Amino acid sequence: MAEKSKRSQFVTRTGVIAATVGSAVGLGNIWRFPYEAGMNGGGAFLLIYVICVFAVGVPVMLAEFVLGRGTHRGGAGAIAAISGKRFFKSVPIIGILASVLILSFYSVVAGWILEYLYWSVTQLFDPQVVDDYSARFGGFVANPVRTVGWTVLFLVLNFLVIVRGVEKGIERMSNILMPLLFLILVMFCVNSLMMPGAAEGLDFLFNPDFTKLSPSMVIDAMGQAFFSLSLGMTCLLTYASYFNDETPLLKSAVTVSVLDTLVAVLAGVVIFPAVFTYGMTPEAGSKLVFEILPAMFVQMPGGAVWAIFFFVLLFFAAITSTISMCEIPTAFFIENCKMKRRGAAAVVIGGLLVLSTLCALSFGPLSGVTMYGKTIFDLFDYVSSNILLPIGGIIVSIFVGWVVDRKFLNHQLSINNRCPQWLLTLLRIAMRWLAPACIIVIFIYGLM
Ligand code: PFF
Repeated sequence: MAEKSKRSQFVTRTGVIAATVGSAVGLGNIWRFPYEAGMNGGGAFLLIYVICVFAVGVPVMLAEFVLGRGTHRGGAGAIAAISGKRFFKSVPIIGILASVLILSFYSVVAGWILEYLYWSVTQLFDPQVVDDYSARFGGFVANPVRTVGWTVLFLVLNFLVIVRGVEKGIERMSNILMPLLFLILVMFCVNSLMMPGAAEGLDFLFNPDFTKLSPSMVIDAMGQAFFSLSLGMTCLLTYASYFNDETPLLKSAVTVSVLDTLVAVLAGVVIFPAVFTYGMTPEAGSKLVFEILPAMFVQMPGGAVWAIFFFVLLFFAAITSTISMCEIPTAFFIENCKMKRRGAAAVVIGGLLVLSTLCALSFGPLSGVTMYGKTIFDLFDYVSSNILLPIGGIIVSIFVGWVVDRKFLNHQLSINNRCPQWLLTLLRIAMRWLAPACIIVIFIYGLM
């Protein structure tokens, strides 16, 4: 793909949005958001999260879009096309590091989805067959053969998709599946809203309890915003390099951010009423969604069939996100090491097989291996989302705000977007000052 002189492009405008939403919407919205919100007190977390998305996320996303579409090149190439300064070359390196760390644990969770899909097909979501789903999930994640097996299968599927290139696979899949996922979530919301614990669940999610505000919660909210919007690792920059010259960047960034946030909130509306209905605790951590969903499917009319639909869609939401992440190290090898697409993909997936095995074993044989009190899985998650992505975001934002030529920036932002001068100025200020300052303040606040 990248080695052709004319880069492939997304064909339609909805294709642009759908593919970018496909990258953004994933396990981050449906698995990670409810678990982070649950651990951090619900409503207050949601509020800080939304502020992070719009005050920091949108400017950083625009910065990535401007660089990618403006140069029609991926990570390192886009930066090098504008400036030779050494410092900024660190962005692609952070991107590669973050994508590899995220892919390592993300593939494990995608493997859990495959196991749940298997359970739904083999009718294990039948209360007469299994009654304690928490225990069953606990037993499954501690089983090295099963967790590693599903993770390996997931990574091999990724390999098969990425060797085929960008628009054929990704665009067609996301165009159909993301709207379906959205619909099924809306339906589950209706189901959850009829549960006895609905009021308590909604109160938890939407009524901010400001006593829950803490430095670590703010860091978690910002990390979640970066993770969920796929920011700070040049992923969207690489995507934007496939945008055509008519794509309106501001509209696209706002649309993607709103849709992504909406999906996360919907997931919260599905999960928290169920949490309170079944007397579970919102602070269950990474296993929250995997313990709640079976309990929900068991009591839903036709639950077993819905479960199959849901896990198929969730699987696609996960794989559209992982292929967009795989694109970062793959494009790096293609562009810098003169490798063919197939070889580059093989190196990337090969490395991931080793790292994700370590993450998968964090719930079983390697559960005792910890650093700073975190297992390998949690450490990869924390370092990538809460540290690397925000740092990558600051640098991209500063690069576009300070180094990129103002005319170039304004031109990119104005294409097919009627941007008055005040808005252009505001966006530049957001990239130069607001986004970097917010991230730095949140870091300092967190360190204190
Ligand atoms: N945004 C994706 C999710 O919410 O699941 C995860 C992700 C994809 C993060 C791509 C970063 C990335 F570059």
